[in-house]
Amino acid sequence: MQERTLVTGATATLGREVVARLLAIGHGVRVMSRRPRPAEDPQHYEWAVADLTTGRGVADAMAGVRTIVHCASGRSGRQKEAYITRTLLEAARQAGSPHLVYISIINIDQVPLAYYRGKLASEKLIEESGVPFTILRAAQFHDLVRSLFAGAAKLPVMPLPTGRLQPVDVREVADRLVELALGEPGGRVRDLAGPEIRDTGDLARAYLRITGKQRPVWTLKLPGKLFRALREGHNIARDPDRGSATFESWLAEGAHR
Ligand SMILES: NC(=O)c1ccc[n+]([C@@H]2O[C@H](COP(=O)([O-])OP(=O)(O)OC[C@H]3O[C@@H](n4cnc5c(N)ncnc54)[C@H](OP(=O)(O)O)[C@@H]3O)[C@@H](O)[C@H]2O)c1
Repeated sequence: MQERTLVTGATATLGREVVARLLAIGHGVRVMSRRPRPAEDPQHYEWAVADLTTGRGVADAMAGVRTIVHCASGRSGRQKEAYITRTLLEAARQAGSPHLVYISIINIDQVPLAYYRGKLASEKLIEESGVPFTILRAAQFHDLVRSLFAGAAKLPVMPLPTGRLQPVDVREVADRLVELALGEPGGRVRDLAGPEIRDTGDLARAYLRITGKQRPVWTLKLPGKLFRALREGHNIARDPDRGSATFESWLAEGAHR
């Protein structure tokens, strides 16, 4: 059987880009999804129906897999995120421990969010699993920032927490993940962030300008540990590798609209 790279989370923003890059270099790809393959799917890769919460189909999805790029995520908080990684690791061990490449998030150990605690728990599980691994922490994707702004722009004024962001183009994250997947297991590698560190209000005004919307932007000093961590810049990476696409250039290009 031809060796495959298994991509979890292949139906979402990052996984889709990873799959496209692997296919472009002629790599065998198997995608994992809880859903059946859509009828209109182009069929250039294998499709494994599997669920990392129940474990259904996960062992079969591992057959002949040399590398796993783990982009699936349980957004609903700490427990699900760590649980799905544990399920994947158990199946990976049973299948002979292929190289596991995991996408994490910058400074998850310094920002008090339940989801980030789940990512941190996942990192720890991977590090202690005995499965050869590479972990890349990336900054927030431009897509995420745009969708936060689109939500806030539904109001007559745009309320935003005071703070700074260094968002990155998901395509550059996918480039890096594929490079890592083709290489040897590297442990925790250097973080990847966008080219600029920008105030939330400044980024929101760029969003309004480029999308042709007009709203006042209010940056607010919100109470609580999370917003304090953001205000104090605990979400900002110290010395990351930097992508080249700014939020504005990405928006202006119309990427992923
Ligand atoms: N968004 C950001 O700004 C950002 C920044 C840095 C790092 N990251 C990380 O990048 C990764 C990908 O993010 P994303 O926004 O592209 O995707 P996402 O929305 O975080 O994850 C959704 C994906 O996970 C899969 N999934 C969820 N539960 C599953 C389960 N029980 N079994 C199997 N698959 C399951 C879904 O597959 P199906 O629905 O097809 O089953 C879907 O493809 C995440 O780990 C995230 O933490 C994100």
